[in-house]
Amino acid sequence: MQADTAPAHSATRLADYRPYPWKIEQVALTFRLAAKTTRVLSTIRFAPNPGVAAGDLVLDGERLGIVSLAIDGAALDPATIAVTPAGLTVPADRLPADGFVWQAEVEIDPAGNTALEGLYMSGGMFCTQCEAEGFRKITYYPDRPDVMAPFRVRIESDLPVLLSNGNPVAAGPGWAEWEDPWPKPAYLFALVAGDLKAHPGAFTTASGREVALNIWVRPADIDRCAWAMESLIRSMDWDERVYGREYDLDVFNIVAVDDFNMGAMENKGLNIFNSKWVLASPETATDMDFERIEGIIAHEYFHNWTGNRITCRDWFQLCLKEGLTVFRDQQFTADMRSAPVKRIDDVMTLRARQFREDMGPLAHPVRPDSYIEINNFYTATVYEKGAEVIGMLKRLVGDEGYRRALDLYFDRHDGDAATIEDWLAVFEEATGRDLAQFKRWYTDAGTPRLGVQEAYDAGTYTLTFTQNTKPTPGQDDKPPRVIPIALGLLNPNGDEVLPTRVLEMTEATQSFRFDGLAARPVPSILRGFSAPVVLDRAPPPGERAFLLAHDTDPFNRWEAGRALAREVLVTMIAEGAAPAPDLLAGLEAVATDATLDPAFRALCLRLPGEDDLAQALHDAGRTPDPDAIHAGRERLARALAERLSPRLGAMIADLAVGGDFRPDADQGGRRALRMALLALLSRIDGGAEAARIHAAAATMTESLGSLGCLLEAGRGAPELAAFHDRWAGNRQVIDKWFLIQPLQARPEAAVAVAERLARHADFDWKNPNRFRSLIGGLTGNHAGFHAADGAGYRFLADWLIRLDALNPQTAARMSTAFETWTRYDADRRGQAAEALARIAAAPGLSRDTAEMVGRIRAAGADPAGT
Ligand code: TRP
Ligand code: ZN
Repeated sequence: MQADTAPAHSATRLADYRPYPWKIEQVALTFRLAAKTTRVLSTIRFAPNPGVAAGDLVLDGERLGIVSLAIDGAALDPATIAVTPAGLTVPADRLPADGFVWQAEVEIDPAGNTALEGLYMSGGMFCTQCEAEGFRKITYYPDRPDVMAPFRVRIESDLPVLLSNGNPVAAGPGWAEWEDPWPKPAYLFALVAGDLKAHPGAFTTASGREVALNIWVRPADIDRCAWAMESLIRSMDWDERVYGREYDLDVFNIVAVDDFNMGAMENKGLNIFNSKWVLASPETATDMDFERIEGIIAHEYFHNWTGNRITCRDWFQLCLKEGLTVFRDQQFTADMRSAPVKRIDDVMTLRARQFREDMGPLAHPVRPDSYIEINNFYTATVYEKGAEVIGMLKRLVGDEGYRRALDLYFDRHDGDAATIEDWLAVFEEATGRDLAQFKRWYTDAGTPRLGVQEAYDAGTYTLTFTQNTKPTPGQDDKPPRVIPIALGLLNPNGDEVLPTRVLEMTEATQSFRFDGLAARPVPSILRGFSAPVVLDRAPPPGERAFLLAHDTDPFNRWEAGRALAREVLVTMIAEGAAPAPDLLAGLEAVATDATLDPAFRALCLRLPGEDDLAQALHDAGRTPDPDAIHAGRERLARALAERLSPRLGAMIADLAVGGDFRPDADQGGRRALRMALLALLSRIDGGAEAARIHAAAATMTESLGSLGCLLEAGRGAPELAAFHDRWAGNRQVIDKWFLIQPLQARPEAAVAVAERLARHADFDWKNPNRFRSLIGGLTGNHAGFHAADGAGYRFLADWLIRLDALNPQTAARMSTAFETWTRYDADRRGQAAEALARIAAAPGLSRDTAEMVGRIRAAGADPAGT
């Protein structure tokens, strides 16, 4: 690493973990809410932590104005103890050894809190975000997840709705009190106060507890809550049926907030959501939005057990709750909708985000061992790969073993702050399996590449696999991992000769034999994407097309088409080859096969994205040219459109959905296929049909899908203007308007479109959703963002510098658009290096962004890229 990129901020290491010397028996908080001067009074009963040597009282605290401090009722003069911008320390010799009551009154400024962490204001309401380390901006506290306590909270405010964690216990004019009986870490604390309305619901648990459900929103949004409520009820029911987990309070509240750094937050009994993931109606939300809302509601609800009742010992264990909860929400969505379609969707996301991360300068293990800013580790690796690792575990121990292990986990660790070692131990005990080698999935970064060789001789077929993982930053040595390889064998006539079985690969090179075969079989390897690896295999010609037509595993059927399309595109882009006829024929056969689920057909028609192709070219040892990639992909799309053209019009008409709108897999699948076909047709008719469909659209899926087709065809200005007028004032829809323009602009126009939109009166850049729509729309336009003159890089750098001063967390996350910069040609690398250097040199750059940019720039020391 170069000297000027060395982090100025210090790292926290897993190896340095020490238990806290004190435990907390009870917390009582009083909030006197005022926009600029909120007073927070805390009374905290500390006792010695059994088994841990006594120590100083170290409390975290940032940006707190001290009004008074006291121990056991005696005032403590802050001048006599160490108070720093990060917290305070009371030496052990000033503390009663058998415990004491700490009291503090501090003043904070919610209105001035633009970082959206701690207590802040959004649209006139007070709200909180404490994960990971936001509670320290509310009061002095041991802000670490292994310190758990019951909380009692009193809120004083004239606002009509006053909410906190747990159950409501008392209220009067201008105040309310809440009590949360379940010990919790501070990151799960929440408070909301505002002029809100509730969409009510109810749930009776399996053991008969009546739970009052409420979704709280601003009055204008009250008619867009029904779907979120239905989703919540389905989630509660599913967790009882599938995991045996019941809810444990009398109320469950969800609040929708407009200004929010991430998707949603699982605070005990009081989930807080980005309003984007709550509010939905057929006219304003796409099918994708409905599915995501259902999944995120489930995710946060499922955290009540996997995260809250059992939490993390420290933030290195983040995947303990996030990987598991993502895995659970994926299972839920698969059950509610189509399991194969969900799997394909998840793998596409995994590859686009996690593989990209794992192959670049930001690669880190599912359980990292060091961080500078923990907010930078809420990553695709921790979440999505963390979920994949659990899927592999389940595949290895079987469904019953998994269930026994989970029962033991809940039983043994309820109320604990646990570790990955605890998690693996319950699997070892419940199933008798040694997981020492499996643990490498948690500790070793990087995506393994799986090579395959086959041999056939006299009825015996042998598959030999090799595994190999490239070095990642800070980890050169990659010993072999356990890789579950789900395999099926097909006869050349398309019948299955060997139904799916799971091979367990544990060595660097390993062979598996299959005897008694009548003919050389066609292998279907890694069915269901049984492990998060890259399959490096150049199959015999025709094999992918054969599997696209015949594989009985829907995932691998899709995968065959996808891999074939990727290969064809790489040769089209790199060698100017023509679109391969067997690909076109295979896609045509799937697209027109009415026996297949329309959603599946839509997925098969989706060509690999441009970023995916850039990675494929890079892997093949070539320098990706973004313009050539765009042009090549466009040529293939046109060829496919022409091939299908005699039938496109009729298919699009047939797929129109009549009757009442339902946001289910069935209708959504039809609309998805219809829009995929419309995108093809637009390449032939210049958007004529898209304009007609747009004018008549009754759903947001079709309105937005057809508008995107128009933009890609280089038209759509009047429709964009009308769309804006119609939806002015609806934040979620206007966000979409900001997103699709740079995203679906022709590459050569993309930066100019983004620059123009950045001057639009509605571009409220301090709002994370709006910022992500516009800036993320540009960075999602591969050839547009990677414009040869560097304009995309400069635009992003300018906005990151500006946002960082207000909201470091969101700025740092968006800097990942640069993580692939070393893939490209010397000119682009030079432009990116300059933009990154400019960010790194910005005065007052946050720790968040400094860490990210430092790691991203370090890749430049190795010009071949990582
Ligand atoms: N724990 C949240 C989840 O369910 C994510 C989260 C972490 C978060 N930090 C946040 C949400 C900050 C909002 C703001 O995945
Ligand atoms: Zn989560």
